[in-house]
Order: sequence, then structure tokens, then C-alpha cells
Amino acid sequence: MKIRKVIFPVGGLGTRFFPITRAIPKEMLGIIDKPLIHYAFEEAISAGLEEFILVTRHGKNSIEDYCDYMFTHSRYFNIRSGSICYIRQNEPKGLGDAVLCAKNLIGDEPFAVMSADDFIFHDKSCIGEMIKHYNGSNMIATMSVAPNEVSKYGILDVKSETDRLVVAKSVDEKPNIKDAKSTYAIVGRYLLSHEIFNILVDLEPGVGNEIQLTDALLKMIPTHGLTGFKFDGQRFDCGSKEGLLTAILHTANSNKELSNVINNFYRKKR
Ligand code: G1P
Repeated sequence: MKIRKVIFPVGGLGTRFFPITRAIPKEMLGIIDKPLIHYAFEEAISAGLEEFILVTRHGKNSIEDYCDYMFTHSRYFNIRSGSICYIRQNEPKGLGDAVLCAKNLIGDEPFAVMSADDFIFHDKSCIGEMIKHYNGSNMIATMSVAPNEVSKYGILDVKSETDRLVVAKSVDEKPNIKDAKSTYAIVGRYLLSHEIFNILVDLEPGVGNEIQLTDALLKMIPTHGLTGFKFDGQRFDCGSKEGLLTAILHTANSNKELSNVINNFYRKKR
């Protein structure tokens, strides 16, 4: 079945960016001249996704204002305005809860989930490449992270792997370094069966007392499998200051005029 719908969970508090995120959603932080949410839309649209569901919350209205602008100026996105909708997550209860908020808008088809603060720099759409490899198994984007970073991520326990795919036999949300079964981490791109809603509805809070999407993926392994997609390109954790700054520098560096600015800056420093 074709994947047409994508959920953007944008209800997080962005605590690592306080105080700016007291007034500006982290998804509206800029990489040069476009906010993170813009890049997520570009990736989704070039993958052929058609319906966009933003799970948002109090204080995040500037995302809607920005989408109003983008969706009425075809030089940015030439798509039907009716294909975007917003649903509220009243409390920040975790990624699994955010996805569950969109249950009635998804219906009974497979769908994508994309975290805008996982910025993936590449000329091919990561979620688009995943859709090409989708075979009905729940799928996540994965990359190998440094062993001392595993406790920031969902980590796969690997059953088998090829150049492109990792088949997981288990998955653990933010394990202790000593308990991690591999260094393959979940990156914020998911292709999911709608049956995940049946699991999320009854899921107990996990790590951080939040409803964890990873815990639902774990429960579904016997019936739906779990495949990691080793994506191309560079990923930046723009939920962190280091990640956002590096993403800005990386993007600037790939632009002739802006890379001159960076080079001049360092030349003057020397
Ligand atoms: C979430 C997921 C985690 C994943 C990470 C990727 O965690 O729960 O499994 O590895 O995104 O960015 P968060 O960063 O929201 O705590």
C-alpha cells in the first residue's frame, strides 16, 4: 500500500534550547534562512508524501503561521492547502503519545513519522529512500553512533544486516552504555503500520516516564518485524546546540558565498 501520510511531532518543549524555546519552537530554529520544519517538509514532499499531520501544542503557533505562508507561496511548496492539518498534544508525554494523537487522521494505512530536529543533509530524501525499500516491516532510519552516545537513542539488537538494511531482533530505548546491544541508533524517520496504534493505546510509560515509540516497536517485532535503514548523507541532532551549530556550518560550507564568509572568519582569527 502506498505511503501518503506523514506525522511531524512538533509538540516537544525543546528544553535543551531554553530560553529561546520559551517563545520560539525548536522546529522554527533556523539553518541560515529556513527553519528546521521547512527542511523536513522538503524531504517529505520530494518523497511523494501528500498529507501532513503536525502534532503541535500550546505556544507553537508560529509553526502554523509559517506553514500558512509556505503553502500559499508556490515557489516554496506547490501542494494543496487542504493536505495539512494540525492536532494538539495537550501534554508532552513522549513521542509514542504524539503519534497516538494522530490515530484518527491516519486510518488503516501505513504512514511515516519524521522528527524535524533530526536534520539530514543529502541531495536524496532519506524518507523517500526508505519508502523505496519499504516491505511492510516497521522501518526506522539507523546510523552507528559513538559507543558513549548510545544512551541518547533507541538502540537496535541486530539479528542480521546487509549493506543497506539491519534486521533487529530487539530494540531498547536509551540503554545504559554497558547494556547496549549495538551502536545502531534510531534516527527520527519511521515507516509504520497503522496497527501500532493498537499497541500505543495500552502502552505504559517507559524511559523518562514518557510513552515511548520504541517500546511499541519492540512489542511489534514478532508480528511486524523491525528493519533499520542505513541512510546516506549526514545527520545532525538539531535538538542540541552542538548539532544545530554544526548543521548551520555544514549547510553554509556547501554554499559558495557563505563558505567564503566562514573562511574569512577563520582567516581573520589566525
Ligand atoms: C527519540 C526516540 C529515540 C531516537 C531519537 C532520535 O528520542 O525516542 O529512540 O533514537 O529520538 O533522535 P528523543 O531524542 O526525542 O529523546
